[in-house]
Amino acid sequence: MSDALMGVYNRAPLEVERGEGVWLHARDGQVYLDCVSGIATNALGHCHPKLVAALRDQAERLWHVSNIFRIPGQEALAEKLVHASFADVVFFANSGTEAIECAIKTARKYHAARGAPERIDVIGFAGSFHGRTYAAVNAAGNPAYIDGFGPRLPGFVQLSLDDAAGLAAAIAAPTTAAVLVEPVQGEGGARALPVEWLQALSAMAKAAGVLVIHDEVQCGMGRTGRLFAHQWAPGAEPDIMAIAKAMGGGFPMGACLASREAAAGMVVGAHGTTFGGNPLAMAVGNAAFDVLADPATLTHAREMGDRFAAGLNKLVAAYRDIAVDVRGKGLLIGVKLLVNNRTMMATAREHGLLVAGGGDNCIRLLPPLTITAREVDTALDRLAMAFATSRSRMAQAA
Ligand SMILES: Cc1ncc(COP(=O)(O)O)c(C=O)c1O
Repeated sequence: MSDALMGVYNRAPLEVERGEGVWLHARDGQVYLDCVSGIATNALGHCHPKLVAALRDQAERLWHVSNIFRIPGQEALAEKLVHASFADVVFFANSGTEAIECAIKTARKYHAARGAPERIDVIGFAGSFHGRTYAAVNAAGNPAYIDGFGPRLPGFVQLSLDDAAGLAAAIAAPTTAAVLVEPVQGEGGARALPVEWLQALSAMAKAAGVLVIHDEVQCGMGRTGRLFAHQWAPGAEPDIMAIAKAMGGGFPMGACLASREAAAGMVVGAHGTTFGGNPLAMAVGNAAFDVLADPATLTHAREMGDRFAAGLNKLVAAYRDIAVDVRGKGLLIGVKLLVNNRTMMATAREHGLLVAGGGDNCIRLLPPLTITAREVDTALDRLAMAFATSRSRMAQAA
């Protein structure tokens, strides 16, 4: 591997040359079933014909003009997102962490605009991940991503998800601006928060005048089998929401959605970006949205999620020495292992299956939402082979 790259990644020794649907073709001729999907991003598989056509068509006409000008693709996609959600307005960014940055700024500016600039605290939860900007790592509070980068930013409070009393006190505090939560934690290990928890949070925050921000960067845009994960919890609509990943199907983009009230402070000049929402991104974003928001896509994702869950539960029951739990929602799936998850990712690769890692010693399966029933079964067969290999290696080592 070239030492001209900054050494911040632990990369698998795999060079992918071509992708088609759920399949990745490596340079050495190996073909892999991709249950990583660029970390929950290629939600329509690799090189979906509608996305390829939209990108090609736009690439020949106009790439970039900046937000100094009107961008019809932004207006069209914003209308679609608003129509499909609680939100009234949208800001387009380039990534998930930028969408989070906008969400945090929107929440603080809301209070400042209402004459309460002291309300700056953003309450976050252990096990969450919100990206790598300085605000995002401080919001998530994971020391591994903060230490060594200087002082922690003020205005961020961390709680554990089961600390009900702590949450009630934090929401009641006069300096609290917002609560930031992933309805289904992704990197933390595919942990779906209970519907009642999300509903109670919304009610508590509303009563206290505190905003709720949902980070749906990983769990949103169809991954759980609904367009947005919080739609499983009626009444738990946030005031602000960050999305990214699947919304571009592999093309970099993100968005911050907000109710008109929550966005009241985001007036001209309050925020901005050079690239966010450029014509090239919006061409792909619009094409991706039309497929992802199609009820047939969401129903299919739910069915494939159920099929995976049934198969994985059987597998875990047969391999109690290897795995202990199946969790997540829809096609954001986690399997908590007893053996090392990084080793299992490599073993799965030996059997032609790509899976992601996750917190709490999980492997995550994040296949394209377009995966077929047959491909789900192939993934399950390959994971079973990986578990069997892991078991026999443990026996040999003993
Ligand atoms: C829940 C969540 N929020 C934010 C991010 C950051 O997104 P990005 O890597 O596009 O900046 C991620 C990325 O994995 C994520 O899973």
